[in-house]
Amino acid sequence: MNLKKIAGFAAAEEIKDNQIIGLGTGSTTHYFIEKVGMKIKEENIEVMGIPTSYQSFLLAKQWKIPVTTLDEHDIDIAVDGADEIDPDFNLIKGGGAAHTLEKIVDYSANELIIIADDSKLVDKLGKFPVPLEIISESVKPVFSAIHDMGGKPKIRIAKYKDGPVISDKGNFIIDAKFEKIDNPIQLEKDLNSIPGVIENGIFSQMVDKVILGTNDGVKVLK
Ligand code: A5P
Repeated sequence: MNLKKIAGFAAAEEIKDNQIIGLGTGSTTHYFIEKVGMKIKEENIEVMGIPTSYQSFLLAKQWKIPVTTLDEHDIDIAVDGADEIDPDFNLIKGGGAAHTLEKIVDYSANELIIIADDSKLVDKLGKFPVPLEIISESVKPVFSAIHDMGGKPKIRIAKYKDGPVISDKGNFIIDAKFEKIDNPIQLEKDLNSIPGVIENGIFSQMVDKVILGTNDGVKVLK
């Protein structure tokens, strides 16, 4: 069973006619966007999407989902993936370097649904490093501040390009490993207070619902 697909397809069933939808990024939201495109075609629903990356923008185009911006519309519902989900529904996101735009879109949505396979559930955040989008000139001071906070930062290196990953907005991505994250709400604030950090990948206290793909089918949490 494709757990990401069943979660993504189930989330698309939550979408109603005339809604403005925040389109998350990643391999799970890929299925959600596909299914929204199918619903537009088969059920004639009229919706618009606000993408969180070039990936979700291109997918929306491919599936003929009209796109708009936050300047023009408020978001009724955002559907997004996650790298980790803790028992209080705090998240780590940004495995695809899209967390800055994702956070802007997800935090402005009236309702935020997270879709994931059940391997993303953790007892405590921190198995996955916390991604940060930073201004390229700030690497040294940002590294030093993260070390002072007990983290181990690394510049994310691209796979099919020499050198660092460059975000959709032209910035560096660093991944900061913390042994354990006892207070994600505070860490989210602290990381964003370092000069040069544009946004970090901790999403605390924002989730309205989690739709999980499991080997026993779809499970809804919250
Ligand atoms: C994008 O930067 C991320 O926040 C993704 O939403 C997150 O990494 C989940 O991705 P998958 O759905 O591919 O696991």
